[in-house]
Amino acid sequence: MLNKFLGKFSKDIGIDLGTANTLVYSSDKGIVINEPSIVAVNMRTDEILAIGKEAKKMLGKTPAHIQVIKPLQDGVIFDFEATEKMLKYFIDKVHREYFSLTPRPRIVIGIPLDITEVEKKAVEDAARSAGAREVYLIEESMAAAVGARMPVTEATASMVVDIGGGTTEIAVISLGGVVNWKTLRLAGNELDNNITQYVREEFNLLIGEQLAEHIKIMIGSVTPLKDQMEMQIRGRDLVNGLPRSVEINDSQVREAISRTVAQIIENIKRTLETTPPELVADIYEHGIVLTGGGAMLRGIDREIAQATKIPVRIADDPLTCVVRGTGILLADPDLLNNILSPGTEAL
Ligand SMILES: Nc1ncnc2c1ncn2[C@@H]1O[C@H](COP(=O)(O)OP(=O)(O)OP(=O)(O)O)[C@@H](O)[C@H]1O
Ligand SMILES: [Mg+2]
Repeated sequence: MLNKFLGKFSKDIGIDLGTANTLVYSSDKGIVINEPSIVAVNMRTDEILAIGKEAKKMLGKTPAHIQVIKPLQDGVIFDFEATEKMLKYFIDKVHREYFSLTPRPRIVIGIPLDITEVEKKAVEDAARSAGAREVYLIEESMAAAVGARMPVTEATASMVVDIGGGTTEIAVISLGGVVNWKTLRLAGNELDNNITQYVREEFNLLIGEQLAEHIKIMIGSVTPLKDQMEMQIRGRDLVNGLPRSVEINDSQVREAISRTVAQIIENIKRTLETTPPELVADIYEHGIVLTGGGAMLRGIDREIAQATKIPVRIADDPLTCVVRGTGILLADPDLLNNILSPGTEAL
């Protein structure tokens, strides 16, 4: 009862706590925060120096006493304290804009499919101690499917493949539940590592992780491009230790990332193989939907379509699908109750 009353006044929040990016949706303003999941800490004083974009700028450029932490790894909380501080900072930022009398927010937060009970509790605790009045955990794949406007509660199956920074989650959804799934610790970060390794082996050049990601976004592709692309990159020569620049082109990047891409596709096929035939027929009809930043890798949709013989669609604005899904759920308590992750309290 009290909750119902408070609910009318509080500004509820949806959060996509991702390995690479954290997004926050407020029930009346839409997406209010979209920042890298990164925290910079002064180890001498234990003080937080920067969070989000500001902290990302410091990556690879810090003196010994400053540590740049990525509090989430492979989609789950790796550094509890830093996650809690980051969440608190973002929640406060949203909450501060309202009257101080506004009750603390209810929070819908996305969690990975293969999360353990302990990890689930960690997410819930982090959100609570960061200021949430109520915490509702929902599977990220489900939120992504809702955000992509797939018919998640109907008696028809949909497949959503979310290629994020740390994990790729492949899920078949029907009647408000996940009926078959696979998660891989292979996604955007691994593609960046592949590029770093390729550049080291091919050019004897050491490059940082930000440059590797930049190369992937600028000229990365899965299928050959109509017009060849290349870019000039600068790193440290592994032989003499001096700066050197080389040119890298799209076909070299394609080669660098090909194994990881093939593994992702192989796992989509395996998930389809273990899905009952009636559901596969539904998936064929709706097509596979791609979400997460990795969905924007050039040609990945075509490659998956070719390998599975199923049509593939990239969701609109794939990077914000999960958080927009939490936003839709905040506005629709019936739908939220229908798909809450098992073990969480109903609204
Ligand atoms: N245009 C692009 N092409 C290829 N990859 C991209 C592009 N834009 C972003 N990415 C990649 O998408 C990844 C981030 O995606 P996203 O924000 O969905 O991940 P996340 O939700 O933080 O991670 P996870 O879901 O694994 O916890 C990064 O690896 C980033 O490099
Ligand atoms: Mg994600």
